[in-house]
Amino acid sequence: MKGKYLRLLSLALLLITIAGCSNQAANSDKDSSNKRIGILQIVEHPSLNSIREAIIAQLAVDGFTEGDNLTIDYQNAQGDQNNLKSIAQKFVQEDYDAIIAIATPSAQAIAGETQQIPIIFAAVTDPVSAGLLKNLDSPEGNITGTSDIISAEQNLLLQLKITPAIHKLGVIYNSSETASQLVVKQLKEYLQSGSQDIQLQEATVTSTSEVDQVVHSLIGKVDAIFAPIDNTIASSMPIVAQIAIDAKLPLYVGADSMVKDGGLAAYGVNYEILGEETADMAAEVLNGKAVKDLPVKVMDSLNVYVNQTTADKIGITLPDEILKQALEVFKN
Ligand code: TRP
Repeated sequence: MKGKYLRLLSLALLLITIAGCSNQAANSDKDSSNKRIGILQIVEHPSLNSIREAIIAQLAVDGFTEGDNLTIDYQNAQGDQNNLKSIAQKFVQEDYDAIIAIATPSAQAIAGETQQIPIIFAAVTDPVSAGLLKNLDSPEGNITGTSDIISAEQNLLLQLKITPAIHKLGVIYNSSETASQLVVKQLKEYLQSGSQDIQLQEATVTSTSEVDQVVHSLIGKVDAIFAPIDNTIASSMPIVAQIAIDAKLPLYVGADSMVKDGGLAAYGVNYEILGEETADMAAEVLNGKAVKDLPVKVMDSLNVYVNQTTADKIGITLPDEILKQALEVFKN
């Protein structure tokens, strides 16, 4: 009797051990196919949010589905440089398989923390001036991604088609954002070439708290305002648009979301496509491709976006030619 019990007990133990082993094997299989990424975003404004949503959706198309074989740690720095730094440090400690950085300040913060973990940036207007890499065609470090550079000249020409009588143009931006600095520099160079008789009046801010007052300071002094692709202004668009509408002043912007938020018109990139391109690059990295073999992708097709409601409110007729050309006519 005793012997039989012992045999049964040892059989039971054996079965438990086998079950335990195969379970462990299944778990470790799962772990090695599960990828972990961090997504770092400087602030939540509509354009950056739509980029992030497009990235996550396209990663799934590319075979990396959140909650299935992909863990995403998404962090928003709420426009604060100190937050950016501590999130970036945490991401490095976590040793993620890749980090996606949305907008220039996020990319700069994470680039300052790691030379090892692959970084894929989204919508960095001027990656070279931002100090992220030197050669867009062959990234030399652990950083690559997508650029949303626009043409200042083409934006100005669009502005002049809608409102030809611009002699003084106010430009409002955050002086520490390299994206805006680049567009303003291009604009100055174009105007210096003498092709247009337009004077620029620059109005810079350092944070969202100054936007209201700085926009008001332009009222009565300029014929139109241009806010390029600037994260600080994009975060305050409802206020900026309202001030311009109250003053019946055309407010031109650099991105589709800023038109949707009440700007009059923009000549800018399609950020949904940009998000998808960013995800494709990240998926290649997760599949083992080296960053140096992934050139920076510059979005080359620019589109016209206009806001019919804003035009009506300030009493401007949008030319038929522009309405036909527009990829989107917002009515809100
Ligand atoms: N290009 C901006 C940067 O380099 C980020 C950005 C993307 C943005 N879409 C935008 C800024 C729309 C303002 C509006 O930081």
